[in-house]
Amino acid sequence: MDKDLAATRRAVDRALALWLEESLAGSSALAPPVRHAVLAPGKRIRPLLLLAARAAALGDGMNRDGRSGDGRSGDPASANSLPEGRRDALFRLACGPELIHAYSLIHDDLPCMDDDSVRRGRPTVHVQFGERAAIIAGAALMPLAVQAVGDGAVGLGLPDDVAGRLIATLTTASGAAGMVGGQCLDIQAEGSGADLEMIERIHLGKTAQLITACCTMGGIAAQAANETVDRLARFGVAIGRAFQTVDDILDVTGSSDRMGKAQGRDAAQGKVTIVSVLGLEGARERAAQLGRTALREVELLEGADMLRELGRRILSRER
Ligand code: IPE
Ligand code: IPE
Ligand code: MG
Ligand code: MG
Ligand code: MG
Repeated sequence: MDKDLAATRRAVDRALALWLEESLAGSSALAPPVRHAVLAPGKRIRPLLLLAARAAALGDGMNRDGRSGDGRSGDPASANSLPEGRRDALFRLACGPELIHAYSLIHDDLPCMDDDSVRRGRPTVHVQFGERAAIIAGAALMPLAVQAVGDGAVGLGLPDDVAGRLIATLTTASGAAGMVGGQCLDIQAEGSGADLEMIERIHLGKTAQLITACCTMGGIAAQAANETVDRLARFGVAIGRAFQTVDDILDVTGSSDRMGKAQGRDAAQGKVTIVSVLGLEGARERAAQLGRTALREVELLEGADMLRELGRRILSRER
């Protein structure tokens, strides 16, 4: 599984590089900050979740209705047996949420936001290229993300209504009702005595909605039954909440070198986090509980090995 996941991650990296090369041709000033943000060594957890969720949906008995022949090979991303063009399209689709994520990190790090100087072990985009380039690079990534999903869906030969559903899932999770809304609450809550209910709303908005969208997009791309997509969504919400819970814990206990970003920034910025509300032990219990909830949702799903492995890694990660 380690080798398979590493190979899938490298394929995601190649797909990201190729998409930027194609879509940024002619934007000479924009390309360096965008490439710096996107191609830096991130974990690629969101595209991996999308691919793993698709594999889980294809392996699920509920969906065995003859739409096979496109990847039920038992490989972890159910992608290797796709014809090459379709495989490329699938990876392009998986780039969509990663590009939204990359933009969110550029803007999250700005001096007027979390004011961070290091990301993925490198200077943040505004440190390297200036604030104006960072804002513009972030803005450029939003439509690029949507275009990647549309292009991927067409290349996969998915019907228009499925392509539309994929785009709507990503944009809803990224916008005011999702990630941007969560970021808004996050900055409003700074320095306040926010309670558990508020921190849960922040985590759901700023992090778990996009992670959930990755999981449901995998199911939608597999044209899975609604029941399966709903199951993947429940997995996504729980594992997404766990993801941000672990992020808050690592900000207190992690190593800056290992994480590739500065530790201790939440307290310095007066952030309300799950640790500031529940304490370290309480936060760890909460992460474990969310992890159990997530894994229970997919324990009976055939073909969900990679999804379960990603879930376990999200809980035990140090970066
Ligand atoms: C960091 O996300 C921002 C959060 C939502 C906590 P990741 O931990 O996935 O960052 P990269 O992509 O691996 O750098
Ligand atoms: C970031 O949360 C969430 C988004 C970028 C949407 P954090 O601010 O905690 O992420 P890090 O710790 O800077 O990676
Ligand atoms: Mg932040
Ligand atoms: Mg931050
Ligand atoms: Mg953080």
